[in-house]
Amino acid sequence: MNKVEISTPGKLMLFGEHAVVYGRPCIVTAVDQRIKVAIEEMGNQSVILNAPEVQIENLDLKLKNNDLNQIPKGAKFIAAALNNFCAEYHLEKGLKIVTKSDFSSKFGFGSSSAVTVGVIKGLAEIKKVKLSNKQLFELAYKSVLDVQGVGSGFDLAAAIWGGTLYFVTGGKQIKPLRVNNLPLVVGYTGIKADTATWVRFVAERKVKFPVLVNDIFDTMEKLVELARKALENEDWDSLGELMDINQGLLESLGVSTLKLTELIHTSRLSGAWGSKLSGAGGGDCMLALTDKAKTVEKAIIEKGGQIIYAKTNAQGARME
Ligand code: MEV
Repeated sequence: MNKVEISTPGKLMLFGEHAVVYGRPCIVTAVDQRIKVAIEEMGNQSVILNAPEVQIENLDLKLKNNDLNQIPKGAKFIAAALNNFCAEYHLEKGLKIVTKSDFSSKFGFGSSSAVTVGVIKGLAEIKKVKLSNKQLFELAYKSVLDVQGVGSGFDLAAAIWGGTLYFVTGGKQIKPLRVNNLPLVVGYTGIKADTATWVRFVAERKVKFPVLVNDIFDTMEKLVELARKALENEDWDSLGELMDINQGLLESLGVSTLKLTELIHTSRLSGAWGSKLSGAGGGDCMLALTDKAKTVEKAIIEKGGQIIYAKTNAQGARME
C-alpha cells in the first residue's frame, strides 16, 4: 500500500502582522517545531482522520465535497484541503490520515496552516503529481480561505518554503531572506487568541478611522523594509528598535493586551534589544530579541509567561 509522511514547520511572525492582510509586506520565520502528516491509501473510498492534538478520533471524511459546516473545528482545514486537492486531481482509493504535532495548537504557531500544507503535499505524493511550491501554496491558500474567510497566507508560505521570508499578501511576493538563526526568546502568554476575531477587530477600527489605520499600515510597510535590511545585516540594535516601533503601531491598532504588554516591557527592562507581540495579538506569543536569553527568560517566567524553545529559520515542508 502507498504510504507517505510529510512534516511542515510552524512559524513566527517577525514584522508586519495585520498590515499584511491589506496588501502590505511582512517578515515571517519558520520554526523547528513541526507537524507530521502520515497518509496511507486504503481499499475503500472513505477517509479516516486521527488528529489527537485537536481531539479528532477516527473521524469519517469524504475524498471531496465535504460540507465544512458539518465538520468539527479541528478537522475543517484537512477537509478543505481534501476538497480542493481532489477537485483538481482525482483520487480513487480511500485514505487513512494521522497528524502529530511537536507543539500545542494554542501557541499561535500556525498549526492549521502547517497541517493544510502537509495534507496537500502528502496527497500530491500519493497521487504522484509534481506540485511546485507556488501550486501547493495556491491550493493551501484556497483551503484556508474556505475555512476562515480571512488571512494573508504568510503562515502557509513559511510552512512550504521554510527559512525566513519577505511575504506580500496572498503570495504576491515570496522572497527568502539571507539570515541565520535569530537571537530570539519566545514567551507564551498562556492565552489562546483567535486570529479571525482580531483580524475583524482591526477591520472595524479601519472602517471607523480609515485614514489613521491606512497610515499605520503604510508606516508598517516602511518599517518592514527597514527591518529586512537590519535583519540581513544582523544589525540587532536597529532590529530591536524596529520591533519596539512595530509594537507601538500594533498597540495603536488595539491588538495588544495587558499580558502581552507586560511580558514585552519586562523583556526590554531586562536588556533585550527590542520586543513585540507576534501574530494576531490578543494573547499567543511575544518575542524578545536579545543576547541575554537567560535573564530575559527568567523575567518573562516571573511575570507568568511560559518560554517556548524554538529555533528560527527552519526547513520547509519535507518528506520524512
Ligand atoms: C496572524 O498570525 C497574522 C495576521 O496578519 C493575519 C494574517 O496575516 O493572516 C493578523
